[in-house]
Amino acid sequence: MNIAIIGTGYVGLVSGVCFSEMGIDVWCIDVDRSKIERLERGETTIYEPGLDEMLRRNAEDGRLHFTTSIAEGIANAEVVFIAVGTPSQCNGGVDLSYVTEAALQIGRHIDHDVVVATKSTVPVGTSRLVASIIEEQLSQRGAKLDIDVVANPEFLKEGAAIKDFMSPDRVVVGVDSERAKRVMARLYKPFMFISDRLMFMDVASAELTKYASNAMLAARISFMNEIANLCDKVGANIDMVRKGMGTDERIGSKFLYAGCGYGGSCFPKDVRALASTARSLGMTMEIIEAVDRVNGRQKGVIVDKLREALGELRGKRIALWGLSFKPETDDIREAPSRVVIDALLESEADVAAFDPEAMEACREIYGERVVWAKDMYDAAMEADAVVLITEWKQFRVPSWRLLKRIMRGRTIVDGRNIYDRTEVEEQGFTYKAIGK
Ligand SMILES: NC(=O)c1ccc[n+]([C@@H]2O[C@H](COP(=O)([O-])OP(=O)(O)OC[C@H]3O[C@@H](n4cnc5c(N)ncnc54)[C@H](O)[C@@H]3O)[C@@H](O)[C@H]2O)c1
Repeated sequence: MNIAIIGTGYVGLVSGVCFSEMGIDVWCIDVDRSKIERLERGETTIYEPGLDEMLRRNAEDGRLHFTTSIAEGIANAEVVFIAVGTPSQCNGGVDLSYVTEAALQIGRHIDHDVVVATKSTVPVGTSRLVASIIEEQLSQRGAKLDIDVVANPEFLKEGAAIKDFMSPDRVVVGVDSERAKRVMARLYKPFMFISDRLMFMDVASAELTKYASNAMLAARISFMNEIANLCDKVGANIDMVRKGMGTDERIGSKFLYAGCGYGGSCFPKDVRALASTARSLGMTMEIIEAVDRVNGRQKGVIVDKLREALGELRGKRIALWGLSFKPETDDIREAPSRVVIDALLESEADVAAFDPEAMEACREIYGERVVWAKDMYDAAMEADAVVLITEWKQFRVPSWRLLKRIMRGRTIVDGRNIYDRTEVEEQGFTYKAIGK
């Protein structure tokens, strides 16, 4: 089977590599020439555990190809995926210009029957829009082809993307033709050998499932963050409350962790997009809008805690551990670390930061306004406070003794609640966490 993927970013690249791992011939297409050149040299363009080796192996075996040419990429494809970005507009709505451009290019270059699958996260109605753009291009050049557009939203998590793609909880496909259903079933069959988790539904439901899932996950985080903030006020411990809640099977124990807010390329924009879709239809989604507001506030909690501990921040040296929006990725889109850095620089604090993978991306934004440390202890040198923002494994058991020797102050702000208060306080530090 031969497929093409338009957009070789996080989702496009991981999908392409994983499909090729299952013996499918994959063409990954991107407008970014430098990205394609790096991938052709066998270099990965994102940090994702396991991706490097899988990419090189499949490219060497001749199943994985990279190109900037849509015409070349889709020449023999049975399925063409659209996996381009769908960023937020200022009003929270979705910028569909990359998706419509991809549709336009498909319409201009396709010369055979094909299934087009929108893998980008798109509002209800977008697959229909894609179909109409392609149809218009075909009719302009007098071509008569069968084009089926299906919705196939992607649920992979950054940091565990390969595992999620290779053994997904479910694959959702919105179809309205038997032919498209057969093609998509054949494409995903290799991923369904252990158990069949391929779900067919109508196109609108598939498009909405993705937003509803992300909004539910984001809601759990904002909910727990509000409970944690209340814990701080009443002297309760969010870790205990979480355990007490999570044992109820109806609630479940996953995704109940309080912290300094969610970030990344999906939750923030998808929550806003859902609210915006509702608003455009004259409806207000009260819960969804509150989820976003609570998260915005939560990203400010770290700096509030620093002020509580240190007072005036001007001239204070603050060490930040972790910059990516979560561990095992170099993605810093909407990361809480950026809100913290902005606020600290605004307050004229000195900021030193360390992250195992995301330093380069952050340096592009902040340049030399931040000291980029070579490791976690280098960042903590002469610091008045250390702030844990992203819970990379290597930050889990720091040497408090060493920190005492190298730090100027004695404050630890734990933005992810990973340290034990007693242990930290016994070493003579002031410990601030989220709700405990
Ligand atoms: N990142 C995730 O964890 C994740 C998970 C699930 C779903 N999604 C969704 O998947 C979509 C893609 O997200 P991403 O994180 O991979 O984005 P990304 O920004 O990493 O990648 C998008 C890529 O598309 C390319 N592109 C844009 N227009 C193009 C065109 N006309 N032709 C060819 N290439 C083009 C860009 O150069 C870029 O490389 C979004 O809708 C996102 O919401 C993302």
